[in-house]
Amino acid sequence: MLNNSQIRDELTPSEKLKLLFAYTAKIAEEKRLDQLLQLMADLGRELIVADRCTIWLYDKEKEELWTKVAHGVEEIRIPANTGIVGYVVQTESNYFTNDAYKDPNFNREVDKKTGYRTKALLALPLYDNEGCILGAYQAVNKMTEAGEFSSEDINNLKMIASYSEKSLANTLLNEEIENTQKEIIFLMAEIGESRSKETGNHVKRVAEISALLAKLYGISAEETELIKMASPMHDIGKVAIPDAILKKPGKLTDEEFDEMKEHTTIGYKLLKNSKRRIIKSSAIIAYEHHEKWNGKGYPRGLKGEEIHIYGRISAIADVFDALASERVYKPAWPLDRIQQLFIEERGEHFDPVLCQLFLDNFDQFAEIITTYQE
Ligand code: C2E
Ligand code: SIN
Ligand code: SIN
Ligand code: SIN
Ligand code: FE
Ligand code: FE
Repeated sequence: MLNNSQIRDELTPSEKLKLLFAYTAKIAEEKRLDQLLQLMADLGRELIVADRCTIWLYDKEKEELWTKVAHGVEEIRIPANTGIVGYVVQTESNYFTNDAYKDPNFNREVDKKTGYRTKALLALPLYDNEGCILGAYQAVNKMTEAGEFSSEDINNLKMIASYSEKSLANTLLNEEIENTQKEIIFLMAEIGESRSKETGNHVKRVAEISALLAKLYGISAEETELIKMASPMHDIGKVAIPDAILKKPGKLTDEEFDEMKEHTTIGYKLLKNSKRRIIKSSAIIAYEHHEKWNGKGYPRGLKGEEIHIYGRISAIADVFDALASERVYKPAWPLDRIQQLFIEERGEHFDPVLCQLFLDNFDQFAEIITTYQE
C-alpha cells in the first residue's frame, strides 16, 4: 500500500506511458465488475497523482449513485441529484475545483461518513456504448506539493475514462445478463418444486449444501459457484410426474416409484441441449443425482467415479435436505438419525470421501438447514 499522506511528484511522460501500458490490457480483459472498478480507480489515482479515485455508478431505478470499490471507502449510496458527482451526472459535464468546501454543490455527507477531508476534486461523466450516462469518474485531492489539479489532469482522466468506459459498459451488461439467467434458473426450479409443495427455500438449501460440500472437497471457487447455480434444478423433471404420485401421502407402489424414477431422465432431456454452462451442469445433476456409489441407483446404475462429481455431490445434498424436511410421505428426521444414515451409507449410497467430509463438518451443514427454514 502507498502511504497516501506522502507528498509525491508528477509522473514523467515515460512513467505515464508505462502505467497506461500496464493497466489498459488488464482493463480491457477484466470481466468482473469489482475488479474492473478497482483497476480503473487505481489507474486514475496513479496517473494524476490523486489521493483517492472513485468510480460512481448511476442506478437509474433508484435514482442513486453508488460506489462499491473506492480507496478507503465501503459501498456508499447517495441520491443521484446531490453532490458534485450528482451535478456531473445530471448535467453530463466535467467538474473541477481545488477547494470543494467552498462549492455549494459539494456534498459533505460523504466526508462525514468516511472521516476524510476533500479539498481538490475532479469528476467526469462516464458513458455506455449508446452514449447513455453510466456514472462518474472522480478523483480527490492532489498529492503533489502544489496540491491542485490542472487542466492536464482533466485531459488525462478524460482519456482513461473514454478508454475504460467501454469495458465498464460491457461488464455491467454481462452482469445484467448473468443475474437474469440466475433468476430464470431459480424460477424454473421453484416452478418444479411448487408442484410438489416445496418452497423456494428447498432450492436455496440444496444450492448452499452443494456449494459447501464442493468447497470442502477442494473444487475451485468458480466451479463451486457453477454447482451452486446448477443444483437447484436437479428435480426439474418432476414437472412431468402426475400429482397422484407426486403428492401421494403414503408409500409409493413399485409401479408408481418406477414412474417417479423417470424424473431424472426427463430432467436430463429438458436441459441437455442448452449451450449455457450452468444448464449443461444442471442436466448432469438431474440425470445423476439418484445414482449410488455402489451401483444400485438409477436411472443407469452407474458406479463409483463413473458418476460425475456433480452427481455425487448433489446426491448427498438432496438426501440430506429431503431427510431434514417434512415431505407429504414422511416427517422431518432429527439430525442424529440423519447423521446415522450417512454413516451407514458411506461407501454404499454415497461417495465415501465426500460423505466423510460431510460428516466431519456436519454442524456447518445443519446450520444451512436452520438458516433457510420453511
Ligand atoms: P425426495 O423426497 O426429494 O427424496 C430424495 C431422496 O432422499 C430419496 O430418493 C431418498 O434417497 C432420500 N429419502 C427421502 N426420504 C427418505 C426416507 O424416509 N428414508 C430414506 N432412507 N431415504 C429417504 P428416492 O428414494 O429415489 O426418491 C425420489 C423421489 O421420489 C423423492 O424425492 C420423492 O419425491 C419420491 N418418493 C420417494 N418415496 C416416496 C414415497 O414413499 N411416497 C411419495 N409420495 N413419494 C416418494
Ligand atoms: C461530492 O461529489 O460532492 C462528494 C463525493 C465525495 O466527496 O467523494
Ligand atoms: C424435492 O425433492 O425437491 C421435492 C420432493 C417432494 O416433495 O417429494
Ligand atoms: C473435480 O473433481 O474437481 C471436478 C472434476 C469434474 O468436473 O468432474
Ligand atoms: Fe430427485
Ligand atoms: Fe430433491
